[in-house]
Amino acid sequence: MKVIYKKSELKEIVKEAAKTKDIALVPTMGALHKGHKSLIDKAVNENDFVIVSVFVNPTQFGPNEDYDKYPRTLDNDIKLCENSGADIIFAPSPKEMYDEIYFEEKETTLVCPPYKYVNKLCGKSRPGHFDGVCTVVSKLFNLTKCKRAYFGKKDAQQLFIIKKMVSELDFDVEIVPVDIVREDDGLATSSRNTYLSESDRIFAVNIHKGLEKAKELYQKGIIESQTLIDTAMAYLKDFDVDYVEVVSLEDFEKIGTIKNEALMLIAAKTPDKKVRLIDNIEL
Ligand code: PAF
Repeated sequence: MKVIYKKSELKEIVKEAAKTKDIALVPTMGALHKGHKSLIDKAVNENDFVIVSVFVNPTQFGPNEDYDKYPRTLDNDIKLCENSGADIIFAPSPKEMYDEIYFEEKETTLVCPPYKYVNKLCGKSRPGHFDGVCTVVSKLFNLTKCKRAYFGKKDAQQLFIIKKMVSELDFDVEIVPVDIVREDDGLATSSRNTYLSESDRIFAVNIHKGLEKAKELYQKGIIESQTLIDTAMAYLKDFDVDYVEVVSLEDFEKIGTIKNEALMLIAAKTPDKKVRLIDNIEL
């Protein structure tokens, strides 16, 4: 496995590989854990050339977010990718990835999804976040010439928006969604779990418990979203709740009475360290 830091070097490798192989991309921000490993394992099983990008993307962080303290663990990431059988890690610096104008004027050409996709859920409390995500993912698609790209279902709104972007911008990339990986007690794996204090870690599992309870009620025939939301909220008393919502899987619009495939999503900050965790469950 090779670790590449320069776009020019990546382009050379991609040019050669693309002649005989289908290239797959696993885009990550590093601090890889078993959730990422499941994306990489799936990509390795289904493709003959796998590129894992490790890049903490500045354009998707707001001014008061955790860009500076986001965990950076490249040595461990390299080991995990090597053990999983990836072919390339692409780990550019921000200056390699973005042009000078971004650092001088905090501006760059952006790929901006429509307002109706971003004016809710994570997009509402993180203005500009999905512009940054779509921009970097577009750049990675162009750089890697990937045929398939693997994304976790935990970032459900991100997955929905990227699928829309691929279709609306005619990218020739198949988006492969991968199931959420959980710790033994149900907590969804996340690089941000490393921020949790001991007491936060105990509370954090309530997010998944709330989702599970709501699903149980739905399976018993409760189809009013508000009842399910209230049920999940009861598990989040100690949290600073950003949202608990039920949306249609089809268009990500909120639903009152559930008639078709639906997703329940939670974003909440933990009581002690105010770590913002997200999770979801298909009802
Ligand atoms: O999900 C993530 O880790 C990031 O948003 C992504 C897709 C790698 C883009 O920076």
